[in-house]
Amino acid sequence: MRRGRKKRLAAICIFVVSIYILLVWMFEFPSVAHIPSIRVWWDEEYSACKRHVAHQQSLPENQRAPLYLSVSFSGRLGNWMYAYASLYGLAKRTGRKIYLQPENQVSGYFNIPKNMNVEPICPEVLIEPRPAAYTPEFESLPHGVNVTIKGYMQSWKYFRKEYDADIKKQYKLRDDIMEKGREALKKFKSKISRKFDLLISVHIRRQDKLDWGAYLKGFRAAPVSYAKNAQNYMRQYFKDKAVQFLVMSDDYEWSSKHLKAEDTAVMEPNDKYVDLAVLTMCNHSIITVGTFGWWGAYLAGGHTVFFQDYAAKGSRFDQETEREDFYLPQWIGMS
Ligand SMILES: *[C@@H]1O[C@H](CO)[C@@H](O)[C@H](O)[C@H]1NC(C)=O
Ligand SMILES: *[C@@H]1O[C@H](CO)[C@@H](O)[C@H](O)[C@H]1NC(C)=O
Repeated sequence: MRRGRKKRLAAICIFVVSIYILLVWMFEFPSVAHIPSIRVWWDEEYSACKRHVAHQQSLPENQRAPLYLSVSFSGRLGNWMYAYASLYGLAKRTGRKIYLQPENQVSGYFNIPKNMNVEPICPEVLIEPRPAAYTPEFESLPHGVNVTIKGYMQSWKYFRKEYDADIKKQYKLRDDIMEKGREALKKFKSKISRKFDLLISVHIRRQDKLDWGAYLKGFRAAPVSYAKNAQNYMRQYFKDKAVQFLVMSDDYEWSSKHLKAEDTAVMEPNDKYVDLAVLTMCNHSIITVGTFGWWGAYLAGGHTVFFQDYAAKGSRFDQETEREDFYLPQWIGMS
């Protein structure tokens, strides 16, 4: 008798614990709780969106509200420039409007349209598989819903072919920033006594690529030998011209110590937008790693050399980057 009762108690305990685990699993893990037919039943906001979208889709095409495309990530100026350019290209191709989060670093500094602050409701979120690679699936977005891409969208393939001119026009910096850039350049030139025909920027990004986290992820800072090789290549390539190098870096001391030469001077850092203005005013570009230098080179529109050993082979950073998607085909990779 007593043994029977103990057994029953144990069975009840196991039952209760199992139900508890099942519930936790259903509501904590996307696998079950996010199956649409289940989610509609417990998530009020979700089911309201389902109704909203169904209603929109039932309307004749010319009465539907516009569809939006947006992007979600956290990053700096270069990341934002890449993301906006890619959004622009994809939005054009798929007939959507763009929404830019308030924390974006591009609107207000360039010649890009205002009124991109209508926040899309009920967006379907797509997860980008790799931040510096092209995802062809994004060219055919889900029909009839707003879409937010969670990711960085760092590939020229999203915009370059058809919208290169648009992007360059939109990425004209504000006049006052350009003016500051011209002043900074004038100051730089006043310290150089030699005459030259071509100004070539050397953008060296080092600081945040040196810490342990970045190293473990696979980032590799460019060594002095890369900068020297790239400079020699440029001297050779433009051998009938007098070439002057302008080094810009987040590590002014390192650059001054290692790169100063008769035809090479280091510029003191300015505000990042002013630095970008200066990069775009150079004739040709040498870059190391990162999107800021990338945009300086893209907008300068000259001959460009990039550091091809930016990642340790097989590292996470290596896997996240598709070289052909990220760097322009005509850019030269060097070690
Ligand atoms: C997309 O977002 C806009 C702006 O918030 C909204 O007017 C529209 O109804 C949404 N469309 C869908 C299908 O959810
Ligand atoms: C180099 O760039 C400057 C400033 O943009 C420009 O005025 C000059 O014509 C360029 N030189 C050559 C040889 O392309």
